Amino acid sequence: MITGRMDQNFGKSFGRAGRSGAGRDRMTARPHQQDLAASEALAHPGLAARVAAAAVICDVVQGGHALDERFAAEATPSRVSGLDERDRGLARSIATVAIRRLGTIRLALSQLVEKGLPRNCGPLEWILIAASAQILFLDTPDHAAVDLAVRATRLDAKSTPFANLVNGVLRNLIRRRDEFLSQSDSLEDDTPHWLSARWRRIYGEERAHSIAQANRDEPTLDLTVKADPESWAEKLGGRVLPTGSVRLQTHAPIRELEGYNEGSWWVQDASAALPARLLDAQPGQRVLDLCAAPGGKTAQLALTGAHVTALDRSAERLKVLSANLERLKLEAVIAVGDAASFRAEPFDAILVDAPCSATGTARRCPDVVWTKKPGDVSALAAIQTRILDRALSLLNPGGRLVYCTCSLEPEEGEAQIGALLRRNPDIVRERIDPGLLGLPAEAATPEGDLRLLPYFLPHEDPRQRGLDGFFIARLKRVN
Ligand SMILES: C[S@@+](CC[C@H](N)C(=O)[O-])C[C@H]1O[C@@H](n2cnc3c(N)ncnc32)[C@H](O)[C@@H]1O
Repeated sequence: MITGRMDQNFGKSFGRAGRSGAGRDRMTARPHQQDLAASEALAHPGLAARVAAAAVICDVVQGGHALDERFAAEATPSRVSGLDERDRGLARSIATVAIRRLGTIRLALSQLVEKGLPRNCGPLEWILIAASAQILFLDTPDHAAVDLAVRATRLDAKSTPFANLVNGVLRNLIRRRDEFLSQSDSLEDDTPHWLSARWRRIYGEERAHSIAQANRDEPTLDLTVKADPESWAEKLGGRVLPTGSVRLQTHAPIRELEGYNEGSWWVQDASAALPARLLDAQPGQRVLDLCAAPGGKTAQLALTGAHVTALDRSAERLKVLSANLERLKLEAVIAVGDAASFRAEPFDAILVDAPCSATGTARRCPDVVWTKKPGDVSALAAIQTRILDRALSLLNPGGRLVYCTCSLEPEEGEAQIGALLRRNPDIVRERIDPGLLGLPAEAATPEGDLRLLPYFLPHEDPRQRGLDGFFIARLKRVN
């Protein structure tokens, strides 16, 4: 029987992943970090990247921040300012794999530091997690991971006394690496307990495990192309998925790829490309994209020749949508507002890509499972209901509505649509045939909606398999 799983405290001061709030002041020593960027980083290549990674891990696990947000140029406080591009990339790789495999790392550390960490030890926990991520999952040489962790420990007055402990713990981790890796279970260890229990209840043991296993893979990028996916796949060295998206092989920066500047394609997960296709918007139709930013689906709708209105609550995110449409040379009317109270003339077709818990996107955003908490699902489901009710009030007779969320939770999918149909006798479900979309038969729910699970589209290369978990329903207002 293995002890020290995620739901047990990893020592007194480690706490559990999630927004405990305790120790939120750790890793906030800005002046100290600036000194580091200015001097130590030069003296010890790679040290600033490790310190930044540890700070970001703390921001996500303890502060509940999104990983992407912490690496955004406008993040405050910035953990990566002053780092060159290579070190930023390194910090991001370390933080991402540390969050993806947080449970495995904490389980190993809990066995290595049986008494837990001392109180008031500054950023010690985050330094250990960042170093463990390198030792267990990245190709950092072991000696560099240990040496830089010890150096990072000595940069903070509170953690300095524990430099020897860091050295000893990490050397033991290296010795027992195979043991820790082989005992690690994706559902038990790398999924928060509330979510693994949920997924077991909803999907059963086997499928819940497959979901958790898929979440361990770091996927490559999918593109939606304006036209001729085969030729773009060839030019970019990718392949066309059965669903029609182009899946890349390359690690090259996206802006350097052929077709980016010309606006021939945009980045969009294979699952995320399906809802707009299912709306089947026609040239000249009035189409509403509720909750539209950053605009992947707006672009698909605009490409059909429909008159698209793209609404989102976030003006900031709409700026990104606007820039995306400009690059793609596509047009839409952009509106800032609350989808639950938006007023306009009725539309022929409406897409509702509602805000959700996003638990289907853990492959691409491993932080989502750690930054969400159980109450979020019901709170978001209530918002989705309000948005859906408003959307239906804006739908013309005979008009179609596609509803989707990138959540694996039925409250945000199957149950939402079941309740909607009971409330609205003039709305009917249009069954979706997964085979016509290149999806396996198991993607269809018994009612005829789509339930996409992250382990679909298997492939021998972990980067090439899977897709975002999504729920998609297609509805019609009867005349
Ligand atoms: C899943 S994302 C949309 C992704 C987008 N459809 C795409 O394909 O790029 C959800 C969006 O809903 C927006 N949002 C959240 N609550 C909203 C509300 N009450 N009204 C309008 N937009 C909202 C968020 O700002 C976010 O941009």
